[in-house]
Amino acid sequence: MKISVYGAGYVGLVQASCLAHLGHDVVCAELSTARLTALAQGKTPFYEPGMDALLSEELAAGRLRFTHDPAVAAAHGEVQFLAVGTPPLADGSSDLSYLLAAADTIGERAPAESLIVTKSTVPVGTGKKLAQRLVHAARASGRPAAFRVASNPEFLAEGNALNDFLKPQRTVFGVSDARSEAQLRDVYAPLKLSEAQTLVMSVESAELSKYAANAMLAVRISFMNELANLADATGACIDSVREAMQLDDRVGAKFLNSGCGYGGSCFPKDVSSLVKQGEAAGSVMRIAAAADEINDAQRGEMARRLLQIWQAEGRAPAECVVAIWGLAFKPNTDDVREAPALVMAERLLHAGATVRAYDPQASETGAAELGRFPKFALAATAAEAVQGADALIIATEWQEFLSIPAGIVKQAMRGSLVFDGRSVLSPTAARAAGLRYHAFGRVHA
Ligand SMILES: NC(=O)c1ccc[n+]([C@@H]2O[C@H](COP(=O)([O-])OP(=O)(O)OC[C@H]3O[C@@H](n4cnc5c(N)ncnc54)[C@H](O)[C@@H]3O)[C@@H](O)[C@H]2O)c1
Repeated sequence: MKISVYGAGYVGLVQASCLAHLGHDVVCAELSTARLTALAQGKTPFYEPGMDALLSEELAAGRLRFTHDPAVAAAHGEVQFLAVGTPPLADGSSDLSYLLAAADTIGERAPAESLIVTKSTVPVGTGKKLAQRLVHAARASGRPAAFRVASNPEFLAEGNALNDFLKPQRTVFGVSDARSEAQLRDVYAPLKLSEAQTLVMSVESAELSKYAANAMLAVRISFMNELANLADATGACIDSVREAMQLDDRVGAKFLNSGCGYGGSCFPKDVSSLVKQGEAAGSVMRIAAAADEINDAQRGEMARRLLQIWQAEGRAPAECVVAIWGLAFKPNTDDVREAPALVMAERLLHAGATVRAYDPQASETGAAELGRFPKFALAATAAEAVQGADALIIATEWQEFLSIPAGIVKQAMRGSLVFDGRSVLSPTAARAAGLRYHAFGRVHA
């Protein structure tokens, strides 16, 4: 099938490459020259396990092509997937300008009966806006407008994206007619999706499903962070509490870690967008708003506590060096968008401290955000980052940090303060090694 994809980001590139892998003839449009330059050399412009090999394979097979010109993609596909960014506006609502700009090109050029599918995360009601925009653009260029619009929200997790595409837990088709549903089923037919995991619903329900899933996970994280503070204040240990919770299969085990909060390109913006959608619809989303507020405070909290300790000890931040392990918002990605590490680093750098950070994959993307601070430096290894440091903050739970003994950390550091934002170290081992160990909910561990 001829398929077009708009956007070669974390979602669009995975979608385009995997659809080519399924045998489709895919044209992917991307506006970023930097991303296109990397792609022209067969390189994935970001870190995603398995992507490089898949990309090379599909480019060599001729099933996947890239273009800087959305009009080329528009003229190609009988099914066209929009995977452009929908970043937050200043008030927290979603910026649909990239999506609607792509719609203008599609309306002007796409085959008259194409199916236009939104993969980007978009507020409920965007499908209708998109349909109107397509009709308007088509009519303005004197063309018939018989496009159909569908929603096929993306549920991939960065770091596991290929697996999530090839073995999805569920696939949602938001459609308003049988032909669109049949076409989407054809697109994914090679995956042999089970009926139980294929959900067909209205476009609006599909749009809301994506926000509902992300907001639920964000709420769990913020709830555990509040609970961790209560545990610290009352003599309980959050690790024991979590064990008791997760053995209840109604609760489940996932997303129950307390820590320095959630980040990434999805949770923060999707939760705030959901809150704005609630306001606009006159249906206030109080729980999502609370999760957002708690997370905002949580992301900077460890830096705040560190500065407070220094102040109590009469130490000037300008004389101190902080090592940060992990810049990415989670392991197995180089994505630093909204990462807690950046929030903490910025707070410490503004206070005058020196920050030396190490991340196995996100050094480049992290440095692009923090390189403007003269006292920010990258370390080549985790060991180099802590050498002579006064404090260590662990902001991402990369596998390699789990195996570093607390004693080695203590020996390398000048000071002994450790803020473990991801519960990576054992509190007992850290304290036994002479580290002053801080982690949410583990005061009584
Ligand atoms: N990253 C994730 O884990 C994830 C998961 C699920 C859903 N989503 C959603 O998917 C969407 C895309 O996310 P992302 O992380 O891939 O974003 P991204 O910023 O990495 O990529 C978007 C790309 O679209 C390109 N673009 C913008 N306008 C274009 C146009 N008219 N034609 C062609 N390309 C255009 C941009 O240059 C950019 O490279 C967002 O709505 C996001 O919320 C993301």
